[in-house]
Amino acid sequence: WAAIPSFFRCTTAPVLTFRRLGDPELMQAIHTRFQPRPTDVHIVTYPKAGTSWIQEIAWLVNHDADLEAARSTPSSQRTVYIELAVPGVDKLTQLDAAADPRHVKWHHSAWLLPAEVVREGKVIYLMRNPKDTVVSWYHFQRMNKLYAFQGTFDEFFELFLAHQVPYGSYWENVLSWWAVRQQPNVLFLTYEDLHQDLHGEVGKVANFLGRSLTPEQVNRIVEHSSFEQMRANPMTNASQMPKIEGESDFMRKGKVGDWKNYFSAEQDVRMNAWIKQHLGDIQIPMLFET
Ligand code: A3P
Repeated sequence: WAAIPSFFRCTTAPVLTFRRLGDPELMQAIHTRFQPRPTDVHIVTYPKAGTSWIQEIAWLVNHDADLEAARSTPSSQRTVYIELAVPGVDKLTQLDAAADPRHVKWHHSAWLLPAEVVREGKVIYLMRNPKDTVVSWYHFQRMNKLYAFQGTFDEFFELFLAHQVPYGSYWENVLSWWAVRQQPNVLFLTYEDLHQDLHGEVGKVANFLGRSLTPEQVNRIVEHSSFEQMRANPMTNASQMPKIEGESDFMRKGKVGDWKNYFSAEQDVRMNAWIKQHLGDIQIPMLFET
């Protein structure tokens, strides 16, 4: 924790006034009080990668496709967003008392998590291509009262490229998890692969978590976690989130390639160069359309 650069507010952007790396007190408490268990499942993403999607899938895989439970308890209660500070809620005490297997959600780079989590817990990391991520992040910043971003897409695009957005750098996050992807306790998946072959990806999650599912259970999970079903389901559509009137819903479009409706040709060229600059020789397969 001591190695973490100082927390600061994004003074470069008057419309963005939150901490880049989360709540320092809560993070410190997590580092000192969170007791990892071998049965823990950690869902980790850079925001807007499809966290809600993979967290629902992983929870169902690890609970015998129990749709009854999934339809009666909000996803956010079944998977605890540990780093979100909620006044009056002591998530660490709640997690201490929780039965196994605990499902925990994070949006941080690997180096910000307790070392035992990265080393020993079961981590499912989901990456989304940065073009669709910036579009989704922009809409979320506008619709969510927590952020209430008032700028344009073009302004947000610049902030994203400059890493001046909540949770900071997309690359720091993705590359930190890519670096540990071959550890046996880490499963690195992509949003685009979920789109292309949901059955197959559910199977990968089941293998990783050591669960054997019947084809019928896999079908149930695939059906339950389709965009349309999750959007219609109050347990998964985040409809209780404090929302700004007139902005898009949390379950917005759920597509690969929506960036084409937002990027100018110049922005596309710049983002391609930005991707190249950050990846260097690292080969991460990225899909920008399906
Ligand atoms: P869009 O804004 O592009 O629609 P997160 O859960 O990390 O906040 O990510 C939210 C993004 O994932 C949103 O993207 C949302 O629509 C998409 N998403 C959530 N559930 C999905 C599903 N079942 N299928 C496809 N996309 C989904």
